[in-house]
Amino acid sequence: MSTVIPYFDWSARSADWVDDIVEVFQEVAESDEFILKSRVERLEAEIAARTGAAHAIAVASGTGALTVVLAALGIGEGDEVVTPAFSFVSTASTVALRGARPVFADVEYETGLLDPAAAEAAVTDRTRALLPAYLFSGSPRMGAFAELAGRRGLRLVEDSAVALGAETDGRPAGRHGDAGVYSFFPAKPAGGIGDAGMIVTDDPEIARVARMLRNHGQPAGKRFYHELLGFNCRMDELTAGFLLRKLPHLDGLLERRRAIAAVYEEGLRPLAPALLPPQAGFGGRAVYTYVIRSQERDALRSYLAGEGIETAVYYPRPLHLQPAFAHLGHGPGDFPVAERLSREALALPLHPDMAPGAAERVVAAVHRFHTAGR
Ligand SMILES: Cc1ncc(COP(=O)(O)O)c(C=O)c1O
Repeated sequence: MSTVIPYFDWSARSADWVDDIVEVFQEVAESDEFILKSRVERLEAEIAARTGAAHAIAVASGTGALTVVLAALGIGEGDEVVTPAFSFVSTASTVALRGARPVFADVEYETGLLDPAAAEAAVTDRTRALLPAYLFSGSPRMGAFAELAGRRGLRLVEDSAVALGAETDGRPAGRHGDAGVYSFFPAKPAGGIGDAGMIVTDDPEIARVARMLRNHGQPAGKRFYHELLGFNCRMDELTAGFLLRKLPHLDGLLERRRAIAAVYEEGLRPLAPALLPPQAGFGGRAVYTYVIRSQERDALRSYLAGEGIETAVYYPRPLHLQPAFAHLGHGPGDFPVAERLSREALALPLHPDMAPGAAERVVAAVHRFHTAGR
C-alpha cells in the first residue's frame, strides 16, 4: 500500500517553521507588545513596499479586511455590491452583514471567476461597488472591472484574499481598484500561524478610516475616544512576527506551487475535454488550489480516495443557493455556471511540501480512472 497523498499536509509544512514559531513566541513573550505594535507596523510596511500600495492596514483576518473596507467605503443599507455567485462565503457575507445587498452575477466556466459581462448586467442605480474575487489560481479580469467601475462611477474592491504574490497586467493582485485584501489563514500560500489579514489601498481616506474601524473607531493615540462605530479587528504580534519571517520566502514557495501546477497541467491536458484542468499559464499567478473540472467529479473523487489521494471540493454549493442567502430569493438555475462548477470542480493536492513524485502519482491515477483501471 503506497503512502497517502494528503490534500493539505500541515505537519510537513510546519516542520520547516517550528524554530521560527518558537523564537517568535519567545520574543513576544519577553516583550510588552501583543497587539498592533512594532511587528504589525513592520509587516504593514513590508506589504506596502511589496505591493507598491501607499497604505497597508493590518487586520484580524481576510474576512475582517473585507468588512472594514466595505465599512470604510460607507457601504450599508440600500446599497448593492455586485459579487460572484461562486466564491468563498466572505465575498458576499461581508456585504450582507453591512446591511447591503450582494447582487450575484455568474462566473466564467473556464476560470470560475466573475464574468465581466454578467457583472455589468447586474449593475443598477443602487450599485455602489464591484467585488470580484480571486479563486484557486486565477485572477479576475481586473482591466474589464476597472473600466466598468470607471464608466459607471462605482468603487472597485478586490477580494484578493488568496492572491498575495500574484500579478496580472503588470500589477499585483489587490492593486487594481480602490482597495484589495489579503488573508494569512494558514492554508493560504502566504499563510501564517493563525487568523490575520491585510488591506492595501492608495486612498488616504480609506486608510485613515480603516485604521480607526479596525480598532473600535478610535483614532491613533486617542484611547477611549470613539469617532466611529468600529470593530475589534486587530492583528496580533505573534502572527505578524511569524509573517515577517515567512514573507521573504513567499516568492520561492509560489515558484514551487507553480512547478507542481505545471506537472498537473502537462499530465492532465491530454484528458480534455473529459477532464478540464485550469486555464494554462501559471506565470505571475499565485497557485492556491489546483481545481479541475470533471463531469464525473464524484466518481473520480472516490476513485482517487481509493488510491490514497485526498482531494477537496471548492465549493460544493454556490452562494445563491446557501441558506444564509435565502433572503435574496434565488433558486436553482439562476446562475447556471456557478451551479455547474459546484458539481464539477475538484481540487487536487497541491502544496509546496509535496513529496517528490506525488504530483506525478496523482496524474497517473487520474489517467487510470479515465482508461482501463476503473
Ligand atoms: C476568496 C476568499 N475570500 C475571503 C476569504 C477570507 O479570508 P479569512 O479566512 O482570512 O477570513 C477567503 C479565505 O478563506 C477566501 O478564499
